[in-house]
Amino acid sequence: MPGMTPIKNIEWIGDAATGHLRLLEQTRLPNEITYTDCRTVQDVWDAIKRLAVRGAPAIGVAAGFGCVIGVQGSSDEHDAAAKLKATADHLATSRPTAVNLFWALERMQRVAPCDVEALLAEAFHIHEEDAAMCRQIGEHGLRLIESIASNPKSPTILTHCNAGALATGGIGTATAPMYVAHEKKIPIAVFADETRPLLQGSRLTAFELAAAGVDVTLICDDMAAQVMREGKIDMVITGADRIAANGDAANKIGTYNLAVLAKHHGIPFYVAAPSSTFDMQLADGDGIPIEQRAAEEITEGFGSRTAPQGVKTYSPAFDVTPHELITALITERGIIQPVNAETVAEMIGET
Ligand code: MRU
Repeated sequence: MPGMTPIKNIEWIGDAATGHLRLLEQTRLPNEITYTDCRTVQDVWDAIKRLAVRGAPAIGVAAGFGCVIGVQGSSDEHDAAAKLKATADHLATSRPTAVNLFWALERMQRVAPCDVEALLAEAFHIHEEDAAMCRQIGEHGLRLIESIASNPKSPTILTHCNAGALATGGIGTATAPMYVAHEKKIPIAVFADETRPLLQGSRLTAFELAAAGVDVTLICDDMAAQVMREGKIDMVITGADRIAANGDAANKIGTYNLAVLAKHHGIPFYVAAPSSTFDMQLADGDGIPIEQRAAEEITEGFGSRTAPQGVKTYSPAFDVTPHELITALITERGIIQPVNAETVAEMIGET
């Protein structure tokens, strides 16, 4: 597909009974393009935990295929159902914040008959549907870009972390409007936050946008305020890992900072996400579980120590942006604006 990275991030290799999951090893990007083969449920769990596969929709897709691996070799449907439950319960402990993981595991457990063929078909559906949702998010988001595209300079979009093709089964969520604009030859420019501590913005977003030929400029996270003050940013678009019923949105740590900065500078702040990222059971963002990551990711990221031995750390991997700071939510079903419990319920209903 033009306008996006041709690298496959998630692929099922072989048949249902004996096949396995192949994941692009995202921890090695951008320096090495290598793959991790997952042949056991524990392989899938590890790949999610250490971010070989990451990004809310991609985690959900990988978990779907993980369920297939979990029931391979079952003697009958009863045995398969028991193995599926054990697999889903285990994969659910890998990472807590992205609701797509739990959404996909629940969906896989509703498959009937419970056998590897039917489960593999459902995992493929989840993957394909995610690609379609990304495309629709791109088409809806394009309208927001087009609304400012008559400006004398190219519309410039700031994004955070990686909510791109690498994080999904398609052309990404936050990046989808960028890819669609690029495809339609609407000139855009993107500023990508580096995204401390694991650098998904520089390692992944800058990598995939540059590979697709999108004009991308990398900045450190702490430069965003100055870049906005200089008038360089027309809009912010980020992804989300879980959106509560009132529109409060959890995303990579540092997203909330951007929303506050955008408000101060009068810049629209958009969150792009498929309906599978909404958690309508949670009234607001206070109930969203926030993953805590290992101290080493701050003190010796990428193998080089940058903090004194023994220093205390605190490392939430996500933050919650209150809905009042979100100009609109861009979903595959359309744009939710203003963002509140009523408008979210109207568009998303029960997920
Ligand atoms: O820790 P990560 O890399 O999984 O965090 C990913 C993000 O925060 C993304 O912005 C989010 O999952 C949306 S992906 C389309």
